[in-house]
Amino acid sequence: MNVLVTGGAGFIGSNLVRLLRRERPHWTVVNLDKLTYAGNAESLADLRDDKRHVFVRGDIADAELVASLLREHAIDAVFNLAAESHVDRSILGPGIFVETNVSGTQVMLDCARAEKVKRFVQISTDEVYGSLGATGRFTEASPLQPSSPYSASKAAADLLVLAYGHTYGMDVVVTRCSNNYGPYQFPEKLIPLMIANALEDKKLPVYGDGQQVRDWIHVEDHNRALLAALEEGRAGEVYNLGSDNEWPNLQIVGRLLEILGKGRDLIAHVQDRPGHDRRYAIDAAKAQRELGWSPRIAFADGLASTVDWYVKNRGWWERVRTGEYRTFYERNYGAR
Ligand code: NAD
Ligand code: DAU
Repeated sequence: MNVLVTGGAGFIGSNLVRLLRRERPHWTVVNLDKLTYAGNAESLADLRDDKRHVFVRGDIADAELVASLLREHAIDAVFNLAAESHVDRSILGPGIFVETNVSGTQVMLDCARAEKVKRFVQISTDEVYGSLGATGRFTEASPLQPSSPYSASKAAADLLVLAYGHTYGMDVVVTRCSNNYGPYQFPEKLIPLMIANALEDKKLPVYGDGQQVRDWIHVEDHNRALLAALEEGRAGEVYNLGSDNEWPNLQIVGRLLEILGKGRDLIAHVQDRPGHDRRYAIDAAKAQRELGWSPRIAFADGLASTVDWYVKNRGWWERVRTGEYRTFYERNYGAR
């Protein structure tokens, strides 16, 4: 089996490539990533000599490149993770979100269709459903009501993927997961940002009252579900993924400070995110029922091991914060 992972130098993608190489050692994993600010070749450093991991720097919106990769490597299946992923950045500049998340996905679909890829797995998000009140959970039947440019672009991509399934008979599966945490997450996202700031005794910026609720899942649990979606999912279906683990932001930040032995005086309430979704909660019963998957990592353990990873890998996130990580690819791979 030969699979193409897009966005494999990002947080979830780099963990997915590692999981696939470990769990399916006979598969070849081709990894297409543009290395935007969020892509970090250093997150793949341990796979450098792995002959069954082929890293290619490039854009998912480059149809010629994508088609040639699908052909050259006889790709059976695609995991499409490449995206602009940060809500705050989408508020500052939505254009690139449409280019990559919408047009890029459409190029991937066209190429996958032309090259007769057997399955196309689109990695989406619970944010396409918008925001919840105090009760209830998103199911696959919940209406799409995205509220940020990021989530609107992801919803558009989901609809294109499902339309290609419906119109052209392509075998597509869409997964919609809740907030991930774990190693190699870019320190602009809540958990790694707060850990890094606390370790440097900098203020921890909590948006608004900090009572917004997110439903957290460890990246390994998410990625095991993606593999199950490829192998067990039904064509044309959507699968919600989550770990039944809701927390208000302020409580997470307090817990991180406790684990790190730092004081709550580091917390600074700052201006709220415009249009900030109040609460997400995922009902993942369908995935549990149909994919034979369930999350395994308890939040207390996952959070402790994640903090430990950022403590032990300080160089990784310090090089991200200084910008030094951006030259890693050239230094290690030359002009290749
Ligand atoms: P990330 O920002 O860490 O990584 C994105 C990767 O995509 C980067 O390596 C970047 O270089 C690459 N990329 C961006 N534009 C590209 C392009 N045009 N061509 C090729 N590569 C490109 O994101 P992440 O958190 O790992 O998220 C991965 C996917 O999972 C995204 O599609 C996101 O919407 C989805 N998702 C994320 C979460 C989460 O909590 N992080 C939850 C659910 C779904
Ligand atoms: O739900 C899945 C989504 O989770 C993914 O689709 C996105 O790609 C991913 O970025 C994430 O989106 P969020 O907006 O929920 O994640 P973020 O880490 O940016 O913020 C989490 C919560 O923490 C949110 O309520 C905003 C808040 N926050 C975030 C930052 C960066 C703060 O209070 N302060 C901060 O500095």
